[in-house]
Amino acid sequence: MQHRTLGAQGLDVSAIGYGTMGLTMAYGPGDETEGRAAIRRAHELGVDFFDTAELYGWGTGSNEILLGESVKDFRDEITIATKFGFDLSDVQNGFGLNSRPENIRAVADNSLRYLGTDRIDVFYQHRVDPDVPIEDVAGTVRELIDAGKVKYFGLSEAGPETIRKAHAVQPVSVLQTEYSLFERDVEQLFPVLEELGIGFVAYSPLGRGFITGTAKPAAEYDETDLRRVDPRWQAGNFERNVAAVDRIAQLAASKGITVPQLALAWILHQKDYIVPIPGSRSRTRVEENTTAAGVNLTDADLAQIKAILPTGGFGARYTQMPEWV
Ligand SMILES: NC(=O)c1ccc[n+]([C@@H]2O[C@H](COP(=O)([O-])OP(=O)(O)OC[C@H]3O[C@@H](n4cnc5c(N)ncnc54)[C@H](OP(=O)(O)O)[C@@H]3O)[C@@H](O)[C@H]2O)c1
Repeated sequence: MQHRTLGAQGLDVSAIGYGTMGLTMAYGPGDETEGRAAIRRAHELGVDFFDTAELYGWGTGSNEILLGESVKDFRDEITIATKFGFDLSDVQNGFGLNSRPENIRAVADNSLRYLGTDRIDVFYQHRVDPDVPIEDVAGTVRELIDAGKVKYFGLSEAGPETIRKAHAVQPVSVLQTEYSLFERDVEQLFPVLEELGIGFVAYSPLGRGFITGTAKPAAEYDETDLRRVDPRWQAGNFERNVAAVDRIAQLAASKGITVPQLALAWILHQKDYIVPIPGSRSRTRVEENTTAAGVNLTDADLAQIKAILPTGGFGARYTQMPEWV
């Protein structure tokens, strides 16, 4: 597996990472045994960048515990990223934001314990908190770096002003935001990332499973699956997205690859500082996705993809869009 450099602080990771969110939330009930096996298979195939978050355990640490236990035999060979920034003290009644310094410190200590490790390699602010100056957030992460608890600082869903202010206090190694054949908005931030020397992690790189050829009508997903309400799965958008993926599938087939492989290869061909982190509960899909690191797309392929999806998929990526500030 090829590696990529994210930012200017020395963060070096496999060109394709692995996201653990779907093992405990978002896409219906998970199977812990399969999840552990998928993580281990990813590592066998050269994936060394694993993404989790406090949020994915709803305040119980379940996602971080699952990841930590799965990687304990090879922890020192991999990079673990986790995230802070939500108030999960009363999840029965919903959750808000909390990037106050005392919460960041508490989340870091919890994450270290849940992951069973002595350091968090990448610590992201999951969402910008309008009630806490970003300088205070960056300063708190800086203290954690000085204390040896954290190695690199990341932001998620942040806008240019926040990125610049944070970077001035503690250099930001990586921005993480949704990016895929269906979601292009973040391209407007690439010049800022290039100017400041910050890497980029593409989350939901398979469009939450739509850009795989396996999307079903919203009502066919489990009651707890977020795709039941995802705008891209709703009538009107759904059919147009299916038609676009069908055309992508024809191109992929003509190259002897699959839709997910083409979707991930497309991301890798955009910039050399981008790393996608697809999630899957299945070992065979992890194998399929990981192979995308070796797929070459020609200029003609890229032009054909642009003709099929010039600006992305149909429908918004969230019912309530995160606001970039
Ligand atoms: N920073 C943030 O706010 C944020 C937000 C969302 C996600 N993320 C991160 O990004 C990671 C990935 O995003 P994601 O899980 O939302 O979306 P994704 O990777 O775009 O898609 C995941 C979905 O695609 C399916 N899938 C994966 N590979 C497949 C294949 N080869 N063929 C068919 N289906 C396939 C998975 O199903 P199976 O499991 O059944 O294979 C799953 O339902 C997350 O795990 C998380 O770490 C971050």
